[in-house]
Amino acid sequence: MITAVKGTQDLLFPEVRRWQQLEAAARGLFERYGFGEIRTPLLEPTELFVRGIGDETDIVAKEMYTFQDRKGRSLTLRPENTAGVARAVVEHRLHDSPQHARLYYIGPQFRYERPQKGRYRQFHQMGIEILGEGAPGADAEGIAVAVDLLDAAGIPAATVQLNSVGCAECRPPYVALLKASLAPRVSELCGDCRRRLETNPLRTLDCKVPSCQPVLDAAPRLDEGLCAACADHHRAVREILDLLRISYRVRPRMVRGLDYYVRTVFEVTSEALGAQDALVGGGRYDGLLRALGGPDAAGFGWALGMERLLMAMPPLPGERLPRVYLAWSGAGTYARVLLLARELRAMGVAVLVEHQERSFKSALKRADRLNARWALLVGEEELESELYTLKDLASGGQQALAAADVAARVREEAP
Ligand code: HAM
Repeated sequence: MITAVKGTQDLLFPEVRRWQQLEAAARGLFERYGFGEIRTPLLEPTELFVRGIGDETDIVAKEMYTFQDRKGRSLTLRPENTAGVARAVVEHRLHDSPQHARLYYIGPQFRYERPQKGRYRQFHQMGIEILGEGAPGADAEGIAVAVDLLDAAGIPAATVQLNSVGCAECRPPYVALLKASLAPRVSELCGDCRRRLETNPLRTLDCKVPSCQPVLDAAPRLDEGLCAACADHHRAVREILDLLRISYRVRPRMVRGLDYYVRTVFEVTSEALGAQDALVGGGRYDGLLRALGGPDAAGFGWALGMERLLMAMPPLPGERLPRVYLAWSGAGTYARVLLLARELRAMGVAVLVEHQERSFKSALKRADRLNARWALLVGEEELESELYTLKDLASGGQQALAAADVAARVREEAP
C-alpha cells in the first residue's frame, strides 16, 4: 500500500467543508479590508528564501524542501508566502500600483519539521501583506484583520503578543550588547542558545528551555535598546490597538524566526491549542523588497496556520450529502428520472440518481447509508401524475409534490 508522505494529510469530506467555510469567511473579511487575492507558485528559486528569510534561520538552514531540477537549478517548495509575494511585487512592479498594495493568499506551504499535533510538513496558511504603508496604523489595522478573523471563527482565548525588534539602526548595537552580556554565562545556556549566540544571537531571546530563563531574563531588554523612531512607532501601534479596543500583551523577548522583520512583530496564540499554540505570526518587513532588488518600500503582514485554526474552532453541525437520493421503479421510469434529476439540479438541489432499479425498501436502506436528507421515489404512478413522493428521512413523513415544489421544499433548509 502506498501511503501519504509523512507530515502530509488528505482532507476528506465532510471535514473539507470546514476548510471551505473558513476560506469563504476569510475571503469576505479580507475584501472588506481592501485586500485582493494573489496566487504565487509553490516552487520558487532557492535563492529567494535564502535572501528573503535569511540563511541563519531554522527555516532556511534546516526545514526547506530543496532540490535540483533537470537543468541543475536549485528550487524550493515554498516554506512561507511572504518572500514569494515580495518577489511577485518586485517582478511585476506592483509597488507602483495602489490597487496591488493589499494582497492576501490562501494555500499550502512546506517545511521539513518533526510532525506532531498541529505541526505538519505540508500545512496551509492564509495571510495578508500590506505594501508601501510605513505608518503604525497599518500595523494596528493588519493586526485587527487577524483578530476579526479569529473572532468570526469563534476561537476561544486568543491573545495578541506584541513586540518591536528595532531596525537596522538600533538592532546591531543591541545585539552586540546582548552578546557581551551573555558571553560570561555561556556555560549556563542550552546547546541551541550557544549555537545561536554565534549565528543569530537575537534568537536566543525566545528560547523556551527552563534553565536558560534566568540568564535571558537578566540580559538587556530589547525594548530598552530601541532608537527613538522605533520606540515612537512601537508606542503608536499600541495606542492605535488601544483605540481599536484590541487587547494585547507586550512580550519584550519575542523575536520570531524570520530575519526580514523590523519594528513590529506579533503572534496570536490560543490556549485551545497544545504545545504548538501559535495561530498567527507576522510583523513589519520594511526592506524586504529592497533586498530582493526592488524599491525601498514598507511592508507589513501575517499568516495564520489553517490546520491549527480548524483544531481550535468549534465543530460544524453534521451535514448530509447528497440532499436528495432519487430512486425509481418500473419500465420507462429511468429515462424520466435522469431528466428530472437535471431539472432539480438546475433549480439548485443536490441530487444523486440511483442507476439501478430497486425496490423502494432497498432504495430507502441505501439512502440511509448514503446519509441523504431526502429520498425522492418515482414509480409508474408518479410518472403519470407528475407528482413525486418526497420522503423526509429524518422524520419519516412523506408528501406528493411536483418537481418545482420538491425543489422549493428541499431548498427551504439551508444545507
Ligand atoms: P510563521 O510564524 O513562520 O510566519 O508561520 C505563521 C503560522 O503558520 C504559524 O503561526 C502557524 O500557525 C503556521 N505554521 C507554521 N509552521 C507550521 C507547520 N509546520 N505546521 C502547521 N502550521 C504551521 C510566516 O510564515 C510569515 N510568512 C508570516 C508573515 C506574513 N509575516 C509577514 N507577513
